[in-house]
Amino acid sequence: MKVKKTIVLLPGDGIGPEVTRAAATVLRECAQEFHHEFDLHEFPIGGAAIDEIGTPLPNETLDACKKADAVFLGAVGGAKWDSLPVGKRPESGLLGLRKGMGLYVNVRPVKVLEPLRGISPLKPERLGDLDIEIVRELAGGMYFGERGNTTENGVERAWDTESYSTPEIERIATFAYGRAENRSRRLCSVDKANVLASSQLWRRTVVAMSGVYSAVKLEHMYVDNAAMQLTLKPSQFDVMLTSNMFGDILSDAAAALVGSIGLIPSASFGTGAPLFEPIHGSAPSLVGTDSANPVGSILSAVLMLRDAFGLSLEADWVEQSLHRVLAGGYRTADIAQPGASTIGGSVFTEMLREEMQRTLEHAERYGWGV
Ligand code: IPM
Ligand code: MG
Repeated sequence: MKVKKTIVLLPGDGIGPEVTRAAATVLRECAQEFHHEFDLHEFPIGGAAIDEIGTPLPNETLDACKKADAVFLGAVGGAKWDSLPVGKRPESGLLGLRKGMGLYVNVRPVKVLEPLRGISPLKPERLGDLDIEIVRELAGGMYFGERGNTTENGVERAWDTESYSTPEIERIATFAYGRAENRSRRLCSVDKANVLASSQLWRRTVVAMSGVYSAVKLEHMYVDNAAMQLTLKPSQFDVMLTSNMFGDILSDAAAALVGSIGLIPSASFGTGAPLFEPIHGSAPSLVGTDSANPVGSILSAVLMLRDAFGLSLEADWVEQSLHRVLAGGYRTADIAQPGASTIGGSVFTEMLREEMQRTLEHAERYGWGV
């Protein structure tokens, strides 16, 4: 069935625009080959918006995102804006967007891609078949808690507060339980309940809900242990449920295990349109070198096709083609073995486009869509 969708693209800063171009290429190909109508509209966010309009989240940007069927974000931030106070930095544009769009769920799938098994820093027996989903709370916690600064007797003090209410924990836990039910039915809730009051409420709330999800095996882990267990035996996990801050930290660690943070996509859901973004940052040092890995971005577009639009055939098409490009040995610098040859991100995207065409021509041989 043909669909018509409005998609807002927020390229942002650093490598954001180049990885957004890769996602847009994939979406356009998809629209063309499957006769969908995707209207792609670009809006400024982050440092780019500060430079252009004077604020990291212009009203027109937020309004357009609220009206869209789905939003794609590249990356925000960079040294140029580092001296700005917390609420005025590029990052606060992204946080304001997440809040403004009512996005409280962030899913970060971290999975070994078979052709990239060899680049994991872990020994194969430790890596196992790592395939996890980090379900990160996105609208609360320390990111949005009360904060401030004072100076008393010449001594400066600054604080940020971690705070969660029962309904905030319940809505993210509901999502995580649901994901676990549809996967291996194992849920690990991460907290620091041995120290933090907010974590004690977190754990109590997650436990109180467990009766409703009796098929799901619930486990709790302190965040420090979770970081260690991810490194020692990551395949023990299936769905990990975390606060905003813990999920930010653990998802970078998990990404490293499968080879590169450049590979990991994410999807955010809430009360309105969903948002898709790679989990990597703006990597200013890579700008102008065409060496950014577009895979996290491309996989974010795949999540958009599948989870926002229900286009699973199209999503499989892109994903399977992507795996074949990687299986062909094509690598951006971050996922190449030392000394191996590398290609630029734009070349990689072009190889993917060609492979997507080949997949359409030889669908049966490739076992796609049949
Ligand atoms: C992420 C990023 C953001 C976050 C930054 C850019 C605000 O690190 O999406 O993981 O901390 O959420
Ligand atoms: Mg992060």
